[in-house]
Amino acid sequence: MPLEIRPFQEADEADVIALWHLCELTRPWNDPHKDIQRKLTEHRELFLVGLTDGKLVATVMAGYEGHRGSINYLAVDPNFRQQNFGRQLMKVAEDLLRALGCPKINLQVRPTNQAIIEFYSRLGYDTYESLNFSKRLEHDDK
Ligand SMILES: CC(C)(COP(=O)(O)OP(=O)(O)OC[C@H]1O[C@@H](n2cnc3c(N)ncnc32)[C@H](O)[C@@H]1OP(=O)(O)O)[C@@H](O)C(=O)NCCC(=O)NCCS
Repeated sequence: MPLEIRPFQEADEADVIALWHLCELTRPWNDPHKDIQRKLTEHRELFLVGLTDGKLVATVMAGYEGHRGSINYLAVDPNFRQQNFGRQLMKVAEDLLRALGCPKINLQVRPTNQAIIEFYSRLGYDTYESLNFSKRLEHDDK
């Protein structure tokens, strides 16, 4: 089945959040509505959705801050996996980042998520040792 890939539109929001829940990408401390609103102010053209037969089945939220690209919220509906949809979506995201002049993509995955580790390895991503630091500047759950 072909996958139509296009930038996110506001009317997609409910379907996108339902997909993130289905793919267990939501976390209590991240409000998905707020995550979407924030993304719409920063390279919104890098927030992509994939549709097949009119149904929203995939998302990826890429980013670029002038040094490195990022990938978040990569999701393919469990009923539509292993059909190259994830690979196709990542190809479009990488092409958009490359067109912006982005030289390298860094992304984080949970070390327990063996499937995603295998997926990114297949797409040519290498792992490297690093410690990830983070600091909350805004609390979604308050
Ligand atoms: C990871 C995910 C996006 C893959 O989507 P997908 O459409 O099934 O992947 P594709 O069909 O494009 O697969 C691309 C390659 O990865 C491999 N692959 C995909 N899922 C795999 C799995 N679970 N185990 C092993 N290999 C896998 C495929 O075999 C394929 O390899 P090949 O092209 O060399 O033959 C999907 O499983 C998903 O949404 N997972 C849950 C959400 C998630 O964990 N997101 C990442 C958050 S960091």
